[in-house]
Amino acid sequence: MSQQHSGEGTATAVAQGRAPMVRVENVHRSYGTGAAAVHALRGVSFEIPHGELVALKGRSGSGKTTLLNLVGGLDTPDQGRITVDGTDLAGLGEDGLLELRRDRIGFVFQGFGLIPILTAAENVGVPLRLRRAEPRERDERVELLLALVGLADHAAQRPGELSGGQQQRVAIARALANRPALLIADEPTGQLDADTGLAVMELLRAVVRSEGVTALVATHDAQLLGLADRVLELSDGELTEH
Ligand SMILES: Nc1ncnc2c1ncn2[C@@H]1O[C@H](COP(=O)(O)OP(=O)(O)O)[C@@H](O)[C@H]1O
Ligand SMILES: [Mg+2]
Repeated sequence: MSQQHSGEGTATAVAQGRAPMVRVENVHRSYGTGAAAVHALRGVSFEIPHGELVALKGRSGSGKTTLLNLVGGLDTPDQGRITVDGTDLAGLGEDGLLELRRDRIGFVFQGFGLIPILTAAENVGVPLRLRRAEPRERDERVELLLALVGLADHAAQRPGELSGGQQQRVAIARALANRPALLIADEPTGQLDADTGLAVMELLRAVVRSEGVTALVATHDAQLLGLADRVLELSDGELTEH
């Protein structure tokens, strides 16, 4: 399936010396003003090359979610510049950001974020409906993605009829629906037990390879960090690399 994805493989990207998938330059983000201001990010800079799985660690409150939201175009920085796949997010209006999020970024959240009344297959199909994909293309893609995440036999089940690990697999399949260039996951294993969490992280590791996507994954689970190509650590809004 990644072959159909306009041939943007990792090896090709590296060979072409293309711009990194993500470039964050001196980004600042504060909440509130005056004495009550919280400086969530204080001059963060890093790059992620195409095809890498980068883990973002840091204790609760260190700024991980703030950073992921900025990279995913869900929020805008007070200062600094963010480029995703060569596109400067500051140059995109609301519509542009909406399109970026819909077509080029896949999101996975701690709480799965599935729609309870829809089946697993229907949940995976939501981004394809939003893009107005042809029903036949949609059905084929959904079937393929459910197989990819090991849930081919669970297509008709609703989230409440699936385990936490299975729900997160559905969410990962959904995030991949529109063949995003970038996968952003905010503590995707935070609600799962250790073994299930490891399996979900291994799945992310596998899809980064098989789908040729780039991934930025916040986690504070040390066991999962070993699966990343690189680990960035946020501490009080500042970044250190490991
Ligand atoms: N919407 C918000 N309003 C005010 N403060 C916020 C908001 N979101 C996050 N913060 C604060 O910013 C800091 C970083 O939060 P966050 O990015 O959620 O960290 P993490 O995801 O690492 O736990 C924390 O001090 C948090 O309380
Ligand atoms: Mg968070």
